[in-house]
Amino acid sequence: MSMPLPIRAKLTIWYITLLAASLIIFGSIVYVALLKNITSSIDKRLTSLAEIVSKAVFKPGTAQLPKDFDSMLEHFFGIRTAGNFIQVMDKYGRITFTSSTLGQNHIPLSSATFHHAATGTLSYETVAEIGRYPARVITYPLMEKGQLIGILQVGAPMQESAAVINALFYILILGIPLAVTLASGIGWFLAKKALRPVDEITRTAKKIEAGSLNERLKVAGPKDEIGRLAETFNDMIARLELSFKQMKQFTADASHELKTPLTVLKGEMEIALKTEKTVEGLRNILQSSLEEIDKMNAIVKSLLDLARIDSRIKLAKDKVKLDEIIEERFNQTMPLARYKGVDMKIIKNEKVIIFGDMLRIGQLIFNLIDNSIKYTVKGGRIEISLEHEDGWAIITVLDTGIGIAKEDIPYIFDRFYRIDKARTSASVGGEGGVGLGLSICKEIVDAHEGRIEVRSEVGKGSTFKVYLPITNKTDELLGELGFG
Ligand SMILES: Nc1ncnc2c1ncn2[C@@H]1O[C@H](COP(=O)(O)OP(=O)(O)OP(=O)(O)O)[C@@H](O)[C@H]1O
Ligand SMILES: [Mg+2]
Repeated sequence: MSMPLPIRAKLTIWYITLLAASLIIFGSIVYVALLKNITSSIDKRLTSLAEIVSKAVFKPGTAQLPKDFDSMLEHFFGIRTAGNFIQVMDKYGRITFTSSTLGQNHIPLSSATFHHAATGTLSYETVAEIGRYPARVITYPLMEKGQLIGILQVGAPMQESAAVINALFYILILGIPLAVTLASGIGWFLAKKALRPVDEITRTAKKIEAGSLNERLKVAGPKDEIGRLAETFNDMIARLELSFKQMKQFTADASHELKTPLTVLKGEMEIALKTEKTVEGLRNILQSSLEEIDKMNAIVKSLLDLARIDSRIKLAKDKVKLDEIIEERFNQTMPLARYKGVDMKIIKNEKVIIFGDMLRIGQLIFNLIDNSIKYTVKGGRIEISLEHEDGWAIITVLDTGIGIAKEDIPYIFDRFYRIDKARTSASVGGEGGVGLGLSICKEIVDAHEGRIEVRSEVGKGSTFKVYLPITNKTDELLGELGFG
């Protein structure tokens, strides 16, 4: 198994590869251009010198040069042969004159060049060595009436230009690897610097576990990509921390709630085993045990409901006819209200359709009506209504019951929160609930992107209002389905 290359190495490799490639291309271009430039300027000089020498000095019919030709040139024409080589040959290629600058040497003449000259063509070439340095040479045919009468060769040692070219060559050969090495070091360092926050995120993330969700990344840097990453990461941890806390709290509350009926159940059974002998007495105890079991049943059912809504397991998206659901739940709870001696009625029921989970919304309405009946004493009144306004479906459940104190209102939607159990049981005849009803309502409303509001006054009554959105999507879908 091969380890994937770290980003840092990848970045550096890319960087130096590109740098080396561009340096090599650039260097080669400079090298070739310089070489061309130098030879072409030498060639120009040699050509004009060859022309002058041929036109000015030669007499027609001869290809001879006077002995003191070098000094003549300089004297009469101001042409400095100094440094340049001049060599003259007859039409057979035999040397007839060499300038003093050539000393013991002579300019070589290849057969190809000779053939060129014979047809009247100029040749430029670089010959390997005349004396100690390579030389640039022009071979210039001397023609008369279309006939070759001799060959003039003019050359220049490339001593200086060769030095320049060589120097450039070595600068490039040594300089490019050096620059690349240096740059790769810097690139490696920069990549490390740029990626350090990522390392930090990794390290912190490794440290964070269920128990240490309070840890956060330091977001000191600018709000660049990595800064945003760190922030997003922190937000995520914050959310995790919150839900983790809620979960813990919930578990604690739930076990506490379940413990009470279990303790009662256990106590009753122990008494039954030890003391109770009559069938009647045992029956009573069984009866009250059943009540405890019912209580636990209710708690477990509510917990399951909550867990389902929490995990958002398939919140159905049905076409929900709210007015029908209200009707249905009203009829279902009517016997309860009648039994309590509470006057319950629907005062308004507009036709409203929303998209949502029919069962959940039914449960929401039931919980609200259930509370109203539970917390309203005999002779009280309950009014239920449904209307729509500005894209919202508004369900109202009003009662003239015992009401809720201001300081309790913020908590009634919390799980297992119940106001003063004694008050509830005393005033409403022991219909103690679990304290989950309203929190289930809240979850359902949230899942439907709606909101729930409550207004209440102790001794006067309470009004719960639920707002559920009638979205554009609802209208569109309704149109599609032919309900427009
Ligand atoms: N209509 C109401 N009038 C007065 N008090 C209310 C009303 N509705 C809710 N409350 C108060 O808010 C508390 C929380 O309500 P919630 O429905 O969550 O729990 P519960 O009714 O006690 O139990 P559960 O609904 O789980 O059986 C109740 O205990 C009650 O004190
Ligand atoms: Mg309730």
